[in-house]
Amino acid sequence: MHRLKFLLHTLTGRSLPFLQPFWGAREWGLIARCLAGASLQGQVSGLEAEVARLTQARYALGLNLGRSAIQVALEAFRFPKGSEVILPSFSCAGVIMPVLQAGLEPVLADADRDFNLSAAGVEAALSLRTRAVILAHLSGKFARDTEPILELARAKGLKVIEDACQAFGLQKHGKWAGAYGDVGIFSFGLGKNLMGPGGGMLITNDDAVIAYARNRPLTREASRSVRRRVARFAARYGLPRAGFLAAAAAKIRTPGRSCSLEATLDTLAFPVHGLSAIEAALARCQVERFSEIIRRRQANARALLTSGVLEGSGLDLPDPGDHIFTKFLLSTVGDPRTAVSLQVALKSHGIEIELSYVPLHLRPPFADCRRGPLPETERRWSGAFAVPVQPRFGRKEMDRIIRVLAGFAGKSG
Ligand SMILES: Cc1ncc(COP(=O)(O)O)c(C=O)c1O
Repeated sequence: MHRLKFLLHTLTGRSLPFLQPFWGAREWGLIARCLAGASLQGQVSGLEAEVARLTQARYALGLNLGRSAIQVALEAFRFPKGSEVILPSFSCAGVIMPVLQAGLEPVLADADRDFNLSAAGVEAALSLRTRAVILAHLSGKFARDTEPILELARAKGLKVIEDACQAFGLQKHGKWAGAYGDVGIFSFGLGKNLMGPGGGMLITNDDAVIAYARNRPLTREASRSVRRRVARFAARYGLPRAGFLAAAAAKIRTPGRSCSLEATLDTLAFPVHGLSAIEAALARCQVERFSEIIRRRQANARALLTSGVLEGSGLDLPDPGDHIFTKFLLSTVGDPRTAVSLQVALKSHGIEIELSYVPLHLRPPFADCRRGPLPETERRWSGAFAVPVQPRFGRKEMDRIIRVLAGFAGKSG
C-alpha cells in the first residue's frame, strides 16, 4: 500500500526524492553541450588542480569512478600476492571490488555506532599478511577512530587508503578527510554529496603512487557510452518526476528475511578508465559549491535533530559532530520493526528513504572475507535507513518530513 501511496504522491508532484543533483543553469548547459557532441578541453586537469589546491595534496588524478581510484592506489603499492586489505563490512561493492580486482584479499571488519570502522574492529581483522586499511568516512561522518587507526597502521607499517567518497569537503582541525591517509579517494557519482553521473579522484603526496598511477595504461571510455550515461542520469535525477517508478517500486526490507544480494562477482566487475571531460566539468561546478551544499545538508539535518520528534522513538540519531550529512542515517539496536514502521510511514507520505547497505559479509560472494564475528555491524544494520536531507530541500520540505515523524512518534509513543 505504501508503494501505491508513494506513486500517487509522485504523480501529483508531491513526493520528496532522496537524491537530486544540486544543479543549476551551468550544469544543464554542459549537459546540452555534451549531448550535442562538443568537446570540453582542459576540464580534467582543471578539476585535478582544484582538488589538489583545496586538499593541499601534492598530486590529484581523475579516474572514471571512486572504485577505480581505490584499485589504482592499491596496485601502486605493489603488495606481494596474498596480501590482505582491511575494509568495513558495512559498505558497498564499490569498496571491496577494487581490492579483488587489484589481486588482493579483502578482510571485512566491524563498525562503530556510526557504521565507520572501529579501531577494535581493525585490530581483530589484522594478520601477518595485512598490508593496508581502507578507512571510509561513511555518510559524511568523520570516522571517530581515525587517529587510533592511523597510529595502528603506522605501528604495523600498513598503508591507509582514506575513502572520502561520501565526504568531499569534510574537514577536521582544518584538514580534509582524504588528506589523512597515504592516499585519499573521492567520488562524484550517484549518492555522493557532490553528485553527478560519475567520476572519481585520487589524491596523494607519495611520488611513487602518482608515478604508478599516471603511467598505468588506462583505456578510454567510448564517448558514446559516456554520453548515454550522462543523458540517463540527467533524465532520471534532473527531471523531478522521471524516476518515480523505480522509487515507488523499491521494497522495504522485512527484518529476519534473507536479505542476501545474489550478485555475482562478474556483474560487479568494473573497468578502470580515465575521467571523462563532461564528468570532470560537472564535478568542477559542484566543487565550486561544496561549502553551500554542505551548509544546506547540515541545516536540514539540524532541523530534524532539533525538532525532537525522534526522541524516545527507540531509534539512534546520528551524532552531528564532524558530520556533513551525505546521509542522515537512523539505526537501532532494538527491534528493527520500529524502523520498518517509520519507513512505511515516510513512504506513504511520499518521502523517499534509502535502506542501509546489506553488510558485505552477509552477501554471498563475500561471505568468507572475514576473520571473526562482526557483532556491532550485525546488531545495527537491519534497522538502519536514511532520511533525505539533500541540498535542494529547504525549511518547507524538512517541515513536511518532521510532521510525518511527529505523527509517527504520536502513534507509536
Ligand atoms: C564509501 C564509498 N567508497 C567507494 C565508493 C565507490 O565510488 P564509485 O561509485 O564512484 O565507484 C562508494 C560508492 O559507490 C562509496 O559509497
